[in-house]
Amino acid sequence: MADLRSDFVGIKSPNPFWLASAPPTDKEYNVVRAFKAGWGGVVWKTLGEDPPIVNVAGPRYGAVHAGDRRLIGLNNSELITDRELQVNLEEIKRVKRDWPDRALVVSLMVPCEEPSWKAILKAVEDTDCDGVELNFGCPHGMSERGMGSAVGQVPEYIEMVARWCKASTRMPVIVKLTPNITDIRYPARAAHKGGADAVSLVNTINSITSVDLDNFAPEPSIDGKGSHGGYCGPAIKPIALSMVSEIARDKECAGLPISGIGGITTWRDAAEYMALGAGNVQVCTAAMTYGFKIVEEMKSGLSRYLDEKGMTLSDLTGRAVPNVTDWQYLNLNFVTKARIDQDLCIECGRCHIVCEDTSHQAITATKDGRRHFEVIDSQCVGCNLCVNVCPVEDCITMERITAATDPQSGAPATGYRNWTQHPNNPMAKLPEPAE
Ligand SMILES: Cc1cc2nc3c(=O)[nH]c(=O)nc-3n(C[C@H](O)[C@H](O)[C@H](O)COP(=O)(O)O)c2cc1C
Ligand code: SF4
Ligand code: SF4
Repeated sequence: MADLRSDFVGIKSPNPFWLASAPPTDKEYNVVRAFKAGWGGVVWKTLGEDPPIVNVAGPRYGAVHAGDRRLIGLNNSELITDRELQVNLEEIKRVKRDWPDRALVVSLMVPCEEPSWKAILKAVEDTDCDGVELNFGCPHGMSERGMGSAVGQVPEYIEMVARWCKASTRMPVIVKLTPNITDIRYPARAAHKGGADAVSLVNTINSITSVDLDNFAPEPSIDGKGSHGGYCGPAIKPIALSMVSEIARDKECAGLPISGIGGITTWRDAAEYMALGAGNVQVCTAAMTYGFKIVEEMKSGLSRYLDEKGMTLSDLTGRAVPNVTDWQYLNLNFVTKARIDQDLCIECGRCHIVCEDTSHQAITATKDGRRHFEVIDSQCVGCNLCVNVCPVEDCITMERITAATDPQSGAPATGYRNWTQHPNNPMAKLPEPAE
């Protein structure tokens, strides 16, 4: 069994799987159940100043389901903890005392004033927890009050608050970023400049999941009205993965540890985040959908994968980052064609119709008067659409051609040439013509 012990900014945990700040980490009862189930750590549900906030008493969740009713996206309009600060602090102290080997980080959100941050940090330090996470991400409710994503959308505020916090506490400070911003590198750089020990991302994405077409209100509705909520779950993983990779390859963020969050449901999701630069991961929706025991699959799957590859956890972190590049450096001479495995094909015709209607008319529908689906290399541009719509896994694959030129375009199909070197690019740096 591979060693899954993790050290994230000096915070040790038996594995890199933490529960993200949210209902699963809202109170002692839940967190103890989570630790019993095997989670390596938790980020406690965000604490704020007293008096506690008030949540809506009607539905606070909306969801997007796949055709088989699997939940792929969750929307929520919940705020930070609605329990008194002292109650939370006492529970945190007790849990840390009883579970010394687990990571216990406390999420915080108070008004953007230095005395407020100083006061809460002092109170939290007294619990002996392992660190704090600054919640600059909540996109609803708190942002209208000048907190959460209202801070996370202004890099100068992030830097300022991170600096205040670092000056007021000995604990590691993680800054949790909002994805509701154009370029994630700016808030990450600000956190780095402010002295934060790490960033975590993403918090939830502004969303309205559906509209009631009888009552004409966003769902879920509270007394006939709805507001946007924060979107999370498997649907946001691609967005979050891209943001994690942007920070991981940014020179100005070099050395800044990342805690990856967003749609992680299986060990594979977690491994992908790590390969793109995350030192550990946090999970919320998957636990809220399937319960705490999902961590068992995460631990055994990651351990098996590392053993198979002969890698350690730290070998995995960032392993894919050098292979993330900008479009302009992709090899334009890499030419592929779709290949259909006739033994697997169920002759549904979906590949034909999408290629015929929306791509390049490169898949036959009949041969000798019978249904037959086959790729016409001279038309195929290698786009991969048919692979993605085919209902049979691995029935269509993409294969690099061996010919010197592409039968579709006549362009070279060997070697390496990117857009910065291409003759169609007016800015291309072409080799000097021979004398
Ligand atoms: C109901 C709910 C409440 C949440 N509350 C908080 C919170 O108090 N503080 C915080 O930093 N993030 C909060 N989040 C965001 C999660 O910690 C996490 O960043 C987000 O859900 C993305 O991860 P996931 O796709 O695994 O759910 C909440 C998410 C949900 C679904
Ligand atoms: S790869 Fe694209 S162009 Fe080629 S057959 Fe499939 S859908 Fe058509
Ligand atoms: S989509 Fe797949 S299964 Fe359906 S006809 Fe095309 S190759 Fe065959």
